[in-house]
Amino acid sequence: MNIKEIDTKYVLPTYARADVEFVSGKNATLFDSSGKKYIDFTSGIGVVSVGHANEQVSKALCKQLSQITHISNLYYMAPQALAAQKVVQASGYDMQCFFANSGAEANEGAIKIVRKHGERDGEIKRYKIITLNHSFHGRTITTVKATGQESMHNYFGPFPDGFVYADGIDEIASLLDDHTAAVMIELIQGEGGVEPQDKAKVQALAKLLKDKEIPLIVDEVQTGCYRVGEFTASQAYGITPEIITLAKGIGGGVPVGIVMTTLKHVLSAGDHGSTFGGNYLSARAVCEVVDILSQMKQSGDLEIGSLMFNQALEKFYEKHKDIFTQKVGIGMMCGLRTKDAKTLNSIINNARDAGVMVLKAGRNTLRFLPPLTITKEEIDEGFQALESAVSAL
Ligand SMILES: Cc1ncc(COP(=O)(O)O)c(C=O)c1O
Repeated sequence: MNIKEIDTKYVLPTYARADVEFVSGKNATLFDSSGKKYIDFTSGIGVVSVGHANEQVSKALCKQLSQITHISNLYYMAPQALAAQKVVQASGYDMQCFFANSGAEANEGAIKIVRKHGERDGEIKRYKIITLNHSFHGRTITTVKATGQESMHNYFGPFPDGFVYADGIDEIASLLDDHTAAVMIELIQGEGGVEPQDKAKVQALAKLLKDKEIPLIVDEVQTGCYRVGEFTASQAYGITPEIITLAKGIGGGVPVGIVMTTLKHVLSAGDHGSTFGGNYLSARAVCEVVDILSQMKQSGDLEIGSLMFNQALEKFYEKHKDIFTQKVGIGMMCGLRTKDAKTLNSIINNARDAGVMVLKAGRNTLRFLPPLTITKEEIDEGFQALESAVSAL
């Protein structure tokens, strides 16, 4: 049996896989099992922030693996403490971290913090969490319910209570009541279609919540780790949330989720935990990724890469206004609204045939999440392939 046959026989069919098997990569370049080359404008859905097979990360991980990989959270682990320090310092916020293994799990941790925080007065139980329609917060039972997409609430009930959906930032104020434990938002909705929130509205919401002492959770699973130019999108929006969740790009390909919070005294020993969270391996990956990207931020290379990518995307968009209606996004989280969903699917398939990987978001957005280390040559080669993809429509 070949890999496709083995996968089909033994792996549950929860993904509609494209018929390609990648075997190696370097930065934003990938190779499949037939030796065909691709340019990766997806970074594995925003994960491989420092590129495929990053030399600094792989060297550090190999060294770590040869020393110690795991011992549990019952003991101090230098890489975890250092990863927390680097993450907090990169953010500039006065926060502490909890380490989990994925974005959904980080959001679960955030929800536990605000639910316990909401119990503080005893009499009025604050349990409601307001999230936005078209949001995406994960696939666990709780984070599926936190996700403001009704189509994701089929089959799996009963769900945890207390999630309320707002139609946009504007509607949140009218939904706040004595039982509101928190508001949870993405500053740029990713899966929902690369939809940035309005900065002034977000700042007004953050101020209102501070006045009412209601914590704001910003889900930065996709926007975090320099994706939009700053370490967090919250910094770019000029707000200080009580909780920020990170995952995806922060581990550079190693599964990590992080809850960062100013609410340092809500959880006590035993309230929350994880067997794997922040072990030597994943925490070492976080240390290396943050070191690499914060250095790129300081040197200006991060901004240069983002400018080069956006210039190429703008040029491509200007040339194909018959197919695309708008360029959207911030930094290296960007997209092109496509006139119809059918064309969008064809572009993605043609692009893969032409040797460039792109993503879909929402109903009609062609999404780009390139590695933050992508080179000029890779950008040029990727857009050349994308030209062939659209001319083959
Ligand atoms: C904003 C956001 N939150 C949460 C998640 C869930 O992350 P994970 O798949 O690592 O559980 C995602 C994944 O796409 C996401 O984009």
